[in-house]
Amino acid sequence: MKMISSGGFLQSPDKCRLRNFVSEGGDAGSGGAGGLSARGLVLAIETSCDETAAAVVERGRRTLSNVVSSQVAIHERYGGVVPELASREHLRNIVPVVHAALKEAAVSFADLDAVAVTEGPGLAGALLVGISYAKALSFALGKPLVAVNHLEGHIHAVLLEQQERALRDCGAPAALPSRFEGETRLDIKSLALVVSGGHTHLYQVCRKGAHFDYSNIGRTLDDAAGEAFDKVAKLLGLGYPGGPWIDALAPHGDPAAVPFSLAQIKSKPHRRGDEEPEGPSGHRQDFLFSFSGIKTAVLRYVQLHAMEPAIRLRREALAAISQPRLSDVLPLCDAQTLDLIASFQRTVINDLKRKTFAAARAIGAECILVSGGVAANRELRASFTHEADARALAIAFPSPALSTDNAAMIAAAAWPKLIAAQLAHPSLTARPSLSL
Ligand code: KG4
Ligand code: ZN
Repeated sequence: MKMISSGGFLQSPDKCRLRNFVSEGGDAGSGGAGGLSARGLVLAIETSCDETAAAVVERGRRTLSNVVSSQVAIHERYGGVVPELASREHLRNIVPVVHAALKEAAVSFADLDAVAVTEGPGLAGALLVGISYAKALSFALGKPLVAVNHLEGHIHAVLLEQQERALRDCGAPAALPSRFEGETRLDIKSLALVVSGGHTHLYQVCRKGAHFDYSNIGRTLDDAAGEAFDKVAKLLGLGYPGGPWIDALAPHGDPAAVPFSLAQIKSKPHRRGDEEPEGPSGHRQDFLFSFSGIKTAVLRYVQLHAMEPAIRLRREALAAISQPRLSDVLPLCDAQTLDLIASFQRTVINDLKRKTFAAARAIGAECILVSGGVAANRELRASFTHEADARALAIAFPSPALSTDNAAMIAAAAWPKLIAAQLAHPSLTARPSLSL
């Protein structure tokens, strides 16, 4: 349930609203691997949270269809995702979404080489809808099933688009530095920041042939960054999800107006001779995040400046508008509110940036991959890009549509597993707390 950022719409028979993003990259393919057809078509299904998504991707690098059914309208009145409602909506949407993905890709079930599905992390009931459907489909079609970690999917969203761009450009100069274009150029050591509503994780990513290795080197100790965006937006009477609203309103405020600071992460005392102080989970202390404090700081600011009556009015005014736009919301925000929003966003982004670039330096990364819903944030993209340029580091983000939850990223992450014959066990079930 995110704001729709691009792409066309199509209406399914049951009137669920689908977001449809189709890429037209050109790849001839070079024959099947391990008994797969030359096309290597993977149908992927993603239902980890509140988006029912299905995509068909060719050989893990050419998106034929990427359909997302948003549940925004259902959850926004509760200010967050209601797990039971999410599962029910997935049950309603899964069949039309899969059919729409096949139709858009102009393929049939018989053309598929494999089915892929998100096994976790996520909401148990929501995951189970996708997993049950994918297992039944794979069994009925007699096609292999691949289980994918949602977080790995987010990282592959960036890689998928890099490969699509390289295929499309056929070696022509591209927006990204040439050393990061094309499949063979992914062997470099990368740092991935996955920053979403549920996660703020730093991974060292190493590719060995078709195999990817991930090592988690940083994480949040409490709220995820996206969660902080959503909670602050809710506190200020804005819609759900809050990240896109904060993103849209922040440029209208002064980011230096409210001097927030993020809490320092406490750790065991630094012993003499230790290389670096470690945090509670063995991660380096300076790669740990904490966003619950700034949420409380915003609340205290609101109370101290008696902003509650204006917030109440804003909340009521927005509740009366179906699908409010920026032009509806902006006049409802005074300068103090806009300054607060801009200062909050700047503080969170600066913290993400400082720790991400410190981690990149520590592991000797040549490239930074930023993915997850918060990676759609415009100030974050500009600020990270500016820092990367200053340090002569390459940086890549997915397009806004692939930043938030989708199934094309799941298909892309499934491909290396499929060709390595890492298939799901028949006992596959939801793993809500799966880590990467
Ligand atoms: O990756 P995602 O779609 O789902 C999870 O796996 O969590 O991320 C959703 C999160 C929400 O917290 C949403 O507010 C945030 O991403 N988000 C943004 C923006 N677009 C989505 N946060 C800041 N700026 C945005 N433009
Ligand atoms: Zn996600």
